[in-house]
Amino acid sequence: MEYKIILNNTNNKKPIAFFDSGVGGLTVFEKVKKLLPDENYLYFGDTKNMPYGEKTEEQLLEFADKIFKFFESKNVKAVVMACNTTSAITYEKLKNNYNFKIYPIIQSVCSTLAGLDGVKKLGVIATPATINSHSYSAEIAKYNPKMQIFELAAPNWVRIVEEHRITQPQSIIQIKEILDIMSEFKPDKIVLACTHYPYLINVLKKFMPEETFIDPSVSFAKNIKEDLTKSGMLNDKFEYEKFYVSSNPENFKTASALFYTLNELPEIVNL
Ligand code: DGL
Repeated sequence: MEYKIILNNTNNKKPIAFFDSGVGGLTVFEKVKKLLPDENYLYFGDTKNMPYGEKTEEQLLEFADKIFKFFESKNVKAVVMACNTTSAITYEKLKNNYNFKIYPIIQSVCSTLAGLDGVKKLGVIATPATINSHSYSAEIAKYNPKMQIFELAAPNWVRIVEEHRITQPQSIIQIKEILDIMSEFKPDKIVLACTHYPYLINVLKKFMPEETFIDPSVSFAKNIKEDLTKSGMLNDKFEYEKFYVSSNPENFKTASALFYTLNELPEIVNL
Protein backbone atom coordinates (compact mmCIF):
# COMPACT_ATOMS: atom_id res chain seq x y z
CA MET A 1 0.00 0.00 0.00
CA GLU A 2 1.22 3.52 -0.80
CA TYR A 3 1.17 6.24 1.80
CA LYS A 4 1.06 9.88 0.99
CA ILE A 5 2.61 12.36 3.40
CA ILE A 6 0.32 15.34 3.79
CA LEU A 7 2.60 18.35 4.12
CA ASN A 8 0.03 21.06 4.13
CA ASN A 9 -3.31 20.59 5.79
CA THR A 10 -6.14 23.09 5.45
CA ASN A 11 -5.37 24.71 8.82
CA ASN A 12 -1.94 25.74 7.56
CA LYS A 13 -3.54 27.57 4.63
CA LYS A 14 -5.48 29.84 6.99
CA PRO A 15 -4.18 33.42 6.96
CA ILE A 16 -1.99 35.17 9.50
CA ALA A 17 -3.73 38.41 10.50
CA PHE A 18 -2.18 41.70 11.59
CA PHE A 19 -3.69 44.77 13.17
CA ASP A 20 -2.73 48.27 14.21
CA SER A 21 -4.43 51.66 14.45
CA GLY A 22 -3.23 52.44 10.93
CA VAL A 23 -0.18 51.99 8.71
CA GLY A 24 2.29 51.39 11.59
CA GLY A 25 1.76 47.64 11.66
CA LEU A 26 2.99 47.39 8.08
CA THR A 27 6.53 47.83 9.44
CA VAL A 28 6.01 44.44 11.08
CA PHE A 29 3.96 42.94 8.25
CA GLU A 30 6.57 43.61 5.56
CA LYS A 31 9.27 41.89 7.65
CA VAL A 32 7.15 38.84 8.41
CA LYS A 33 6.14 38.58 4.76
CA LYS A 34 9.80 38.62 3.68
CA LEU A 35 10.59 35.82 6.13
CA LEU A 36 7.43 33.83 5.33
CA PRO A 37 6.55 34.52 1.67
CA ASP A 38 4.34 31.42 1.34
CA GLU A 39 1.76 32.55 3.89
CA ASN A 40 -1.66 34.08 3.26
CA TYR A 41 -2.24 37.39 5.04
CA LEU A 42 -4.93 39.75 6.34
CA TYR A 43 -4.27 43.23 7.70
CA PHE A 44 -6.66 45.55 9.53
CA GLY A 45 -5.86 49.24 10.12
CA ASP A 46 -8.28 50.82 12.60
CA THR A 47 -7.89 54.25 11.02
CA LYS A 48 -11.24 55.52 12.33
CA ASN A 49 -10.00 55.13 15.92
CA MET A 50 -6.41 56.27 15.39
CA PRO A 51 -4.44 57.34 17.44
CA TYR A 52 -4.71 54.47 19.91
CA GLY A 53 -2.08 56.06 22.15
CA GLU A 54 -4.58 58.68 23.31
CA LYS A 55 -7.41 56.25 24.11
CA THR A 56 -8.51 54.81 27.47
CA GLU A 57 -8.06 51.19 28.51
CA GLU A 58 -11.80 50.62 28.15
CA GLN A 59 -11.79 51.93 24.57
CA LEU A 60 -8.69 49.92 23.61
CA LEU A 61 -10.21 46.71 25.01
CA GLU A 62 -13.37 47.31 22.99
CA PHE A 63 -11.44 47.97 19.75
CA ALA A 64 -9.14 44.98 20.19
CA ASP A 65 -11.99 42.60 21.04
CA LYS A 66 -13.94 43.66 17.94
CA ILE A 67 -10.87 43.18 15.76
CA PHE A 68 -10.12 39.74 17.24
CA LYS A 69 -13.77 38.73 16.61
CA PHE A 70 -13.54 40.02 13.03
CA PHE A 71 -10.45 37.86 12.49
CA GLU A 72 -12.21 34.92 14.13
CA SER A 73 -14.95 35.28 11.51
CA LYS A 74 -12.21 35.17 8.84
CA ASN A 75 -10.92 31.87 10.25
CA VAL A 76 -7.31 32.97 10.81
CA LYS A 77 -4.61 30.76 12.33
CA ALA A 78 -2.77 33.55 14.17
CA VAL A 79 -3.10 37.25 14.98
CA VAL A 80 -0.08 39.53 15.19
CA MET A 81 -0.64 42.50 17.51
CA ALA A 82 1.53 44.80 15.40
CA CYS A 83 0.72 47.60 17.80
CA ASN A 84 2.63 48.35 21.00
CA THR A 85 -0.27 50.21 22.57
CA THR A 86 -2.76 47.34 22.39
CA SER A 87 -0.06 44.83 23.37
CA ALA A 88 0.62 46.94 26.48
CA ILE A 89 -2.98 47.58 27.47
CA THR A 90 -5.11 44.69 26.19
CA TYR A 91 -3.02 41.54 25.63
CA GLU A 92 -3.05 40.21 29.21
CA LYS A 93 -6.81 40.75 29.53
CA LEU A 94 -7.83 39.26 26.17
CA LYS A 95 -5.20 36.63 25.40
CA ASN A 96 -7.27 33.56 26.36
CA ASN A 97 -10.52 34.55 24.68
CA TYR A 98 -10.00 33.33 21.10
CA ASN A 99 -9.20 30.15 19.22
CA PHE A 100 -6.00 31.27 17.43
CA LYS A 101 -2.45 32.09 18.40
CA ILE A 102 -1.79 35.70 19.42
CA TYR A 103 1.61 37.37 19.05
CA PRO A 104 1.96 40.65 21.04
CA ILE A 105 4.94 42.81 20.07
CA ILE A 106 6.15 44.03 23.50
CA GLN A 107 6.01 40.67 25.27
CA SER A 108 7.80 39.08 22.31
CA VAL A 109 10.77 41.46 21.95
CA CYS A 110 11.79 42.45 25.47
CA SER A 111 14.08 39.46 26.14
CA THR A 112 16.12 40.51 23.07
CA LEU A 113 16.21 44.16 24.18
CA ALA A 114 17.24 43.14 27.69
CA GLY A 115 20.21 41.23 26.28
CA LEU A 116 21.56 43.90 23.92
CA ASP A 117 25.37 43.90 23.99
CA GLY A 118 26.91 46.87 25.76
CA VAL A 119 23.59 48.58 26.44
CA LYS A 120 23.30 49.84 30.01
CA LYS A 121 20.92 52.73 29.34
CA LEU A 122 17.98 52.12 27.03
CA GLY A 123 15.63 54.84 25.83
CA VAL A 124 12.05 53.90 24.92
CA ILE A 125 9.94 56.29 22.84
CA ALA A 126 6.28 55.29 22.48
CA THR A 127 2.69 56.51 22.59
CA PRO A 128 1.36 58.08 25.82
CA ALA A 129 -0.69 54.95 26.61
CA THR A 130 2.30 52.61 26.19
CA ILE A 131 4.55 54.86 28.28
CA ASN A 132 1.95 55.23 31.08
CA SER A 133 1.61 51.43 31.23
CA HIS A 134 5.40 51.03 31.84
CA SER A 135 5.16 47.73 29.96
CA TYR A 136 8.63 48.03 28.44
CA SER A 137 10.35 48.61 31.81
CA ALA A 138 8.35 45.84 33.45
CA GLU A 139 9.03 43.28 30.68
CA ILE A 140 12.74 44.15 30.36
CA ALA A 141 13.19 43.97 34.15
CA LYS A 142 12.08 40.31 34.02
CA TYR A 143 15.23 39.51 32.01
CA ASN A 144 17.68 42.25 33.04
CA PRO A 145 16.72 44.20 36.16
CA LYS A 146 19.98 46.18 35.99
CA MET A 147 19.27 47.84 32.65
CA GLN A 148 18.28 51.50 33.12
CA ILE A 149 15.22 52.45 31.10
CA PHE A 150 14.06 55.95 30.25
CA GLU A 151 10.53 56.00 28.84
CA LEU A 152 9.27 59.01 26.92
CA ALA A 153 5.96 59.67 25.17
CA ALA A 154 5.89 61.27 21.70
CA PRO A 155 2.26 62.37 21.41
CA ASN A 156 2.44 63.85 17.90
CA TRP A 157 4.53 61.33 16.00
CA VAL A 158 1.72 58.95 14.97
CA ARG A 159 -0.36 61.71 13.39
CA ILE A 160 2.71 63.03 11.55
CA VAL A 161 2.99 59.62 9.84
CA GLU A 162 -0.73 59.03 9.22
CA GLU A 163 -1.22 62.55 7.84
CA HIS A 164 1.96 62.22 5.73
CA ARG A 165 3.55 65.34 7.17
CA ILE A 166 6.95 63.69 7.76
CA THR A 167 9.05 66.24 5.90
CA GLN A 168 7.20 69.39 7.02
CA PRO A 169 9.31 71.85 9.10
CA GLN A 170 6.80 71.82 12.00
CA SER A 171 6.97 67.99 12.16
CA ILE A 172 10.77 68.06 12.20
CA ILE A 173 10.67 70.51 15.14
CA GLN A 174 8.26 68.22 17.04
CA ILE A 175 10.42 65.17 16.38
CA LYS A 176 13.61 66.99 17.49
CA GLU A 177 11.94 68.24 20.70
CA ILE A 178 11.42 64.66 21.86
CA LEU A 179 14.95 63.60 20.88
CA ASP A 180 16.39 66.57 22.79
CA ILE A 181 14.64 65.43 25.97
CA MET A 182 15.77 61.84 25.35
CA SER A 183 19.43 62.86 24.82
CA GLU A 184 19.64 64.27 28.35
CA PHE A 185 19.40 60.66 29.56
CA LYS A 186 22.37 59.75 27.28
CA PRO A 187 20.91 56.43 26.08
CA ASP A 188 23.14 53.79 24.45
CA LYS A 189 20.20 52.83 22.21
CA ILE A 190 16.63 54.04 21.67
CA VAL A 191 13.74 51.68 21.00
CA LEU A 192 11.17 52.92 18.47
CA ALA A 193 8.39 51.43 20.57
CA CYS A 194 5.50 52.36 18.34
CA THR A 195 5.18 50.68 14.96
CA HIS A 196 4.59 54.04 13.27
CA TYR A 197 8.01 55.44 14.25
CA PRO A 198 10.24 53.58 11.76
CA TYR A 199 8.49 55.70 9.09
CA LEU A 200 10.35 58.68 10.64
CA ILE A 201 13.86 57.22 10.36
CA ASN A 202 15.02 59.70 7.69
CA VAL A 203 14.28 62.57 10.08
CA LEU A 204 15.51 60.80 13.22
CA LYS A 205 18.89 60.05 11.67
CA LYS A 206 19.48 63.76 11.01
CA PHE A 207 19.82 64.22 14.78
CA MET A 208 21.35 60.96 16.02
CA PRO A 209 23.29 58.14 14.32
CA GLU A 210 20.90 55.69 12.65
CA GLU A 211 22.41 52.76 14.66
CA THR A 212 21.11 54.37 17.86
CA PHE A 213 17.55 53.45 16.91
CA ILE A 214 16.17 49.96 17.34
CA ASP A 215 13.14 48.84 15.37
CA PRO A 216 11.78 45.95 17.48
CA SER A 217 9.82 44.58 14.52
CA VAL A 218 13.05 42.92 13.30
CA SER A 219 13.26 40.53 16.26
CA PHE A 220 9.45 40.32 16.47
CA ALA A 221 9.25 38.98 12.89
CA LYS A 222 11.99 36.40 13.62
CA ASN A 223 10.18 35.23 16.77
CA ILE A 224 6.89 34.83 14.87
CA LYS A 225 8.60 32.75 12.18
CA GLU A 226 10.32 30.61 14.78
CA ASP A 227 7.12 29.92 16.69
CA LEU A 228 4.99 29.11 13.63
CA THR A 229 7.74 26.80 12.36
CA LYS A 230 8.08 25.03 15.71
CA SER A 231 4.30 24.64 15.90
CA GLY A 232 4.12 23.02 12.45
CA MET A 233 1.78 25.74 11.22
CA LEU A 234 3.54 26.96 8.07
CA ASN A 235 1.84 27.15 4.69
CA ASP A 236 3.68 26.12 1.51
CA LYS A 237 2.05 28.33 -1.14
CA PHE A 238 1.01 31.99 -1.13
CA GLU A 239 -2.52 32.55 -2.45
CA TYR A 240 -3.76 35.92 -1.19
CA GLU A 241 -3.30 38.97 1.00
CA LYS A 242 -6.09 41.36 1.85
CA PHE A 243 -6.15 44.75 3.56
CA TYR A 244 -9.00 46.31 5.54
CA VAL A 245 -9.43 49.70 7.22
CA SER A 246 -12.20 51.28 9.29
CA SER A 247 -12.05 54.57 7.33
CA ASN A 248 -10.14 56.51 4.71
CA PRO A 249 -8.65 53.80 2.44
CA GLU A 250 -6.99 56.33 0.07
CA ASN A 251 -5.09 57.90 2.93
CA PHE A 252 -3.94 54.46 4.13
CA LYS A 253 -2.58 53.59 0.69
CA THR A 254 -0.65 56.88 0.45
CA ALA A 255 0.71 56.80 4.01
CA SER A 256 1.82 53.16 3.75
CA ALA A 257 3.93 53.68 0.63
CA LEU A 258 7.24 53.99 2.50
CA PHE A 259 6.93 50.40 3.73
CA TYR A 260 4.55 48.52 1.48
CA THR A 261 2.95 49.06 -1.91
CA LEU A 262 -0.70 48.08 -1.91
CA ASN A 263 -1.93 46.89 -5.29
CA GLU A 264 -5.47 47.96 -4.54
CA LEU A 265 -7.32 50.14 -2.03
CA PRO A 266 -8.07 48.45 1.30
CA GLU A 267 -11.69 47.48 1.90
CA ILE A 268 -13.67 49.47 4.47
CA VAL A 269 -15.21 47.43 7.29
CA ASN A 270 -17.31 48.78 10.13
CA LEU A 271 -16.71 46.72 13.23
N1 DGL B 1 1.27 51.95 16.08
C1 DGL B 1 0.69 51.74 17.35
C2 DGL B 1 1.69 51.39 18.40
O1 DGL B 1 2.63 50.69 18.08
C3 DGL B 1 -0.43 52.69 17.73
C4 DGL B 1 -0.19 54.15 17.49
C5 DGL B 1 -1.41 55.03 17.79
O2 DGL B 1 -2.42 54.86 17.11
O3 DGL B 1 -1.32 55.85 18.72
O4 DGL B 1 1.56 51.74 19.54
